[in-house]
Amino acid sequence: MLTSLGSISIEEFLAEYWQKKPLLIKNLFPEFECPLDHNDLAGLSLEDEVESRIVFENLDGKPWQLMHGPFEADFLETLPEENWTLLVQGLDHWIPEIADLLDRFRFLPNWRVDDIMASFAPVGGSVGPHYDQYDVFLIQAEGRRKWQIGPVCTAQTERLEGTPLRIIKDMQVTDEWVLEPGDALYLPPAVAHYGVALEHCITLSVGFRSPTQAELISSFTDYCCEQASVNRHLTDATIRPLPNPGLIQEDVINDFKGFLRELIDNEPMMKTWFGEYVTSPKHEGIVEAVDDEERISEDELQELFLVPEVQFRWNEGSRFSFIPQDHQIILAVDGHSYCLHSDARTWVELLCSSNQIDKSRLGELTSNDELIRLLARLFNQGSLRISTDDELDDWGDDA
Ligand code: SIN
Ligand code: CO
Repeated sequence: MLTSLGSISIEEFLAEYWQKKPLLIKNLFPEFECPLDHNDLAGLSLEDEVESRIVFENLDGKPWQLMHGPFEADFLETLPEENWTLLVQGLDHWIPEIADLLDRFRFLPNWRVDDIMASFAPVGGSVGPHYDQYDVFLIQAEGRRKWQIGPVCTAQTERLEGTPLRIIKDMQVTDEWVLEPGDALYLPPAVAHYGVALEHCITLSVGFRSPTQAELISSFTDYCCEQASVNRHLTDATIRPLPNPGLIQEDVINDFKGFLRELIDNEPMMKTWFGEYVTSPKHEGIVEAVDDEERISEDELQELFLVPEVQFRWNEGSRFSFIPQDHQIILAVDGHSYCLHSDARTWVELLCSSNQIDKSRLGELTSNDELIRLLARLFNQGSLRISTDDELDDWGDDA
């Protein structure tokens, strides 16, 4: 985990910059080696399951045009020398070494992580001046890119016409930097930004999402409606004579507010829903239950503890979080929740603290039935996987 961001501490970053203002962090990753190159990115953009796009600054005379992948290798060969960008989304779901980069950002909550996107651009390549509703660390992985930033934007910010992209018209520039490999730029949501490749370059965007009020409320109420206890009717046994049958009395509205308050004050339910909601996988196909023949039993799992080369890792793209609740602890993983006794807190914290589980620290607990049962369930639901050191070393050769 990063313990500082350049010359400032994590405490100072969170207090002064996070969600507040941009920060350029020179040399955040000294001697940064990008785990993949433009050929790997091009290869990924051919795959059906991988979300990829190409942005052209100008295509057939039209500004800022967009093409969605998957692409054909022959088509990629025909791309011009300049002024386009290939974007590959969700790299951390596919490449363990990219997922490991997230471990540097564990000073932020796991549930806020969206994904890591990569962009590859030849000279002049850019996605145009725009803003996002995300917090993002733009890590310069290869080559140099010039970044200009501008003011905080709103729905009223004027956009360029004739493009499917949300390009800001006449972005006012408030700061400008050239980022070199290992440098990073943190941007809070809505800050205008425009990055142009000065030469062949790769940028990694470590994105942090946050749900909107509407998303939260709609998911919470859906969840509530699935609970058997939420099926009482409004009653009006205390009704008094009405001046007009059309009148809906204040009492009725107050009763309804009471219903809502009961739901909001039901802390175990609220916390269980929140944990499940915010740890749900980004999209289908990221976390898949293992096939029947590969399911692991508790005994098999316990035996695996004893094999030194066997490591336990989160599935790439999995989300692990926990919420304390009275004498219990709710562990939420990929949209599933497990209500555990608070004695489990030590190992729940260990499971949530890094995508690579420190087995040596879990080791003392191999005789803990609750832990073994949980690990087997996490494995079978597709959230934990077993890896060996060799597998990670081999990745580069297979790509
Ligand atoms: C890029 O890497 O070119 C675009 C990233 C962003 O602006 O969010
Ligand atoms: Co952006």
